[in-house]
Amino acid sequence: MKSFKTFVIASALILAVSGCKVEKPADTDGHDLWFHNLEQVSDATPASYTTEAIAQNEIDRFWKGKAAVEIKVLDKQDDALGRDGYRLVFSSGKVSVEANTAIGTLYGVYGLLRLQQTDALPKGSKTITEVPAYEYRAFNHWDNLNRSVERGYAGKSLWNWDELPDKVSPVYQEYARANASVGINATAINNVNANAQILTPEYLQKVKVLADIFRPYGLKVFLSLNFAAPKHIGGLDTSDPLDPKVVQFWKDKTAEIYALIPDFGGYLVKANSEGQSGPQDYGRTHADGANMLADALAPYGGVVFWRAFVYDAQAEDRAMQASDEFVPLDGQFRDNVLVQVKNGPIDFQPREPISPLFGQAPKTNLMLEVQITQEYLGHSKHMVYLHPLWKECLDTDTYEFGKGSTVAAVTEGKYRDNKLSAISGVTNIGDDANWCGHQMAQINWYAYGRMAWNPDLSSDEIADEWLRQTFSSDPKFLKPVKDMLNRSREVNVSYEMPLGLHHIMASNAHFGPGPWETSYRKDWSPQFYHKAGPDGVGFDRTVATGSGATAQYNEPLASTYDNIETCPENLLLWFHHVPWDYKMKDGQTLWNELCHTYQKGIEAAEEYVRIWEKAEPYVDNQRYQEVRTKLIRQAKDAMWWRDAVILYFQTFSNMPIPDDCYPAQHTLEELQQVGVFRRPQMPQGGARPQGAPQMPRQPRPEIYDMLPDYTLPSMPEL
Ligand code: GCU
Repeated sequence: MKSFKTFVIASALILAVSGCKVEKPADTDGHDLWFHNLEQVSDATPASYTTEAIAQNEIDRFWKGKAAVEIKVLDKQDDALGRDGYRLVFSSGKVSVEANTAIGTLYGVYGLLRLQQTDALPKGSKTITEVPAYEYRAFNHWDNLNRSVERGYAGKSLWNWDELPDKVSPVYQEYARANASVGINATAINNVNANAQILTPEYLQKVKVLADIFRPYGLKVFLSLNFAAPKHIGGLDTSDPLDPKVVQFWKDKTAEIYALIPDFGGYLVKANSEGQSGPQDYGRTHADGANMLADALAPYGGVVFWRAFVYDAQAEDRAMQASDEFVPLDGQFRDNVLVQVKNGPIDFQPREPISPLFGQAPKTNLMLEVQITQEYLGHSKHMVYLHPLWKECLDTDTYEFGKGSTVAAVTEGKYRDNKLSAISGVTNIGDDANWCGHQMAQINWYAYGRMAWNPDLSSDEIADEWLRQTFSSDPKFLKPVKDMLNRSREVNVSYEMPLGLHHIMASNAHFGPGPWETSYRKDWSPQFYHKAGPDGVGFDRTVATGSGATAQYNEPLASTYDNIETCPENLLLWFHHVPWDYKMKDGQTLWNELCHTYQKGIEAAEEYVRIWEKAEPYVDNQRYQEVRTKLIRQAKDAMWWRDAVILYFQTFSNMPIPDDCYPAQHTLEELQQVGVFRRPQMPQGGARPQGAPQMPRQPRPEIYDMLPDYTLPSMPEL
């Protein structure tokens, strides 16, 4: 099958060059991910379901080189490699894959096959040493027990709880293999808004089956906890972390889990956040809650990922709350607790500054949480390569320990004695045939794993690897498509929320624009974040006149952000309230700069379609058509964002859309009438008014069909 595919690709290219009609490569639904171009050379089956047998089997089936491959667990431990690292030793006629552990050799095997697939095998003798930066390279599934996925845009949850533990889908193993191939070694399989049922004996039997399937691939299972589980399923009248009955409940529960799953990873906890219960319900601190769980896990080597994503409706500035709550607790957490911090201080927006907490808790094991699913970046409708966003955060200097203490360095544990380190990503995976909803969104799964292994890799290197393995290595395909991917995050920022704008999306599904919306909670209201008015736009977070959030950063970041003259323009409206006629660095007014930035975003999205159409000879028809349809949609959505935001802001600025920008195609009133934008306008206050509708967190399918129609100058019709 695979060699047939290669033959068809080759003939297609020959025909393309000779000017004849191009024959398309065989169709694929994308289920084979970045293994797509991995041609099978033999039909070997693994000797057993062990890491060693799997590693050997991957080589037997896919290694095409003449050199013999030897897979070797070292007799004498090599400290430089740690638990997961490996060494590839290329010498004449032989490649040796060496590691301290079997899982290290499996990572080495995938590393070797990656070099083969990306045409990067060394020509002569060479030794390549690879050691992951983070000990835990974790996935967070926001999967519910009814198989819905919170903020998931790729079908239902992979975990078929009704069928487990008796019936086991082959997808579970495919999933574990894909993760191992990029080094992901931990997975919290249920939503952080957790249902305590997962901890019942019935569900733990099901979880055990998954853990058994994942184990040979080095993938440890974590569970998200509902902090109120002692009350919900334990028959207790309290979940107070200092109550001895509660302490005993968690000790017993943890022992029960380890009896079933001896390599269980630990607990992920969202507490006192967005309505979840937590230690503060009992007047206790986050540290009290986390430490109680950490003590239960410690005898087994388990760890707690305790989330710092906390905010409440009363605060003046949501961006400051994680630091306000967690900085005073620095130094109080047990050694086996990691505090999991989202990359930015609000919530996975297309662009945020780093969370200041990364630079404020020197005695805490901090870990980074990124979002792989595109909650605010066009769901699985838009092509956005997210590595540039994550890398921007990792490379930002916190200055906590002087120059160079980047988020990467801090979270890798370079400045701590305790070397426990972790990183986590909220997955974009579901039961769609192509796993991620959008063929191109697979790159974000791949890139997350590669980044968690090596945060120094560039976006370009990762995109290059992924495209070669998933589509084609032909430079005529590779270069333009890679450039398009590399630009795509910035393009998304430009057409959704440029210049530091944030949280101005339609607030029900977080899809599409809704700058005019208000909510009964001010901190869920777009108007709270952009503060547009006749005097300008943007959230004043300066010390002198605003919320003072800039002071949460270390110098020189604090003054750089605080001063409108030195604040990077791509974060201007995050930190400053700016008059519409403010002169930007290029001499334009803020208003014109906004209009032009949106315009550039739309034009770049239009260009995607043209680039993709040129790539057609290199892509099978099924994936080609799927991606093309979505790219057309994306460009129209870009125009929809522009019309909505600019027309709404124009009611305050009273300034015209410049002549060199597309004219609006809909009126503000028309856009506000579209169902997706409209939520009942409710008075702002603390609690949800009685009878007010709940915010649905799942996008309803019809939301995607509510796009107002757009005609773009260079855009083909669907
Ligand atoms: C966002 C998201 C929620 C999610 C939350 C979290 O607010 O919209 O659906 O539960 O983040 O990270 O816990």
